[in-house]
Amino acid sequence: MDILAIESSCDETAAAVIRDGREMISSVVATQIEEHRLYGGVVPEIASRRHCESICGVVNEALEKAGITANDVDAIAVSFAPGLVGALLVGVNFAKGLAFSLNKPLIPVHHIRGHIAANYLAHSGFEPPYMCLVVSGSHSHIVNVKSYTEFETLGRTIDDAAGEAFDKAARAMGFPYPGGIFIDSASKTGDSSKYKLPKPHTPNPYDFSFSGLKTAVINLIHNTEQRGEEIDVNSLAACFQKTVCEMLTEKFIAAALENNCKKIALAGGVAANSGLRGALSAAAEKHGMEIFIPPLSLCGDNAAMIGCQGYYEFKAGNIAGTDLNAYATMSLDEVRF
Ligand code: KG4
Ligand code: ZN
Repeated sequence: MDILAIESSCDETAAAVIRDGREMISSVVATQIEEHRLYGGVVPEIASRRHCESICGVVNEALEKAGITANDVDAIAVSFAPGLVGALLVGVNFAKGLAFSLNKPLIPVHHIRGHIAANYLAHSGFEPPYMCLVVSGSHSHIVNVKSYTEFETLGRTIDDAAGEAFDKAARAMGFPYPGGIFIDSASKTGDSSKYKLPKPHTPNPYDFSFSGLKTAVINLIHNTEQRGEEIDVNSLAACFQKTVCEMLTEKFIAAALENNCKKIALAGGVAANSGLRGALSAAAEKHGMEIFIPPLSLCGDNAAMIGCQGYYEFKAGNIAGTDLNAYATMSLDEVRF
């Protein structure tokens, strides 16, 4: 079964052709990052306009690279929630029009379920049940993945997402948007014990809180500047990254141990972080757990992961009508369309 998948939830317009849920035939991602960088973050109105301009070309390129036409695909999957609603609407309406005109099934895919599914593309034998740590620019979730379409969120951020914390801290350190990758590379030459940063407490042990950590970074920079001293940016980046990775790893591993889970996975844009990949792999080895991490190309937003999850949603009977809408927020556990 060939699925044409479309993704437009934030600042990447993407399309892909996925065969039988596991094989990536083609994948095209058009990023708008350079333009949003001028404003220090994603400007929703600009994102929607760029999606409108790019979507035809991106979908055509994905079909061309796969060596097929739109008529050859068996279904169309689209990311419909959560995300920037104006951005999502571009992909949703495009997919609706295509599905209606070609008389093909339309499969609604939850964006975060898509991130989790990226691991199925990378690891052929990997299947539920397992626990997944999903860390992106807008989400930080500890998820019990019971089956391909049954999810139970055990913990989440109570304020900023991990990626958002990376981007805000990076901005304070003087790095361009999105700053996660700059903190990652700066931290490689920094001293991760130079600055002391707090690890905020949360009432639910599996929830995360990053806003206090971000504020601590901003205050540390201001106080150092006020004393007329220079901040060691690489060391601050290393301390910040170490603290975030420790928090994520400690809580996720504790949740996995409590649930007697021996199979864990990492997903989302922040899964590209070298410190997190290393810390989680080391913890998995220590506790005898099997760990699955997507390649860097499948960590950030892409349509291949949407096509992969779309296959399993289709098998579970999740088909939408032409009344499908886009939603800015939606629980991962209870998808409605
Ligand atoms: O999943 P994603 O592409 O978009 C959302 O769905 O949010 O995640 C983007 C986030 C950004 O906050 C970006 O800074 C972060 O992932 N990111 C990283 C790294 N690469 C991307 N954060 C830390 N280290 C990285 N190497
Ligand atoms: Zn994403």
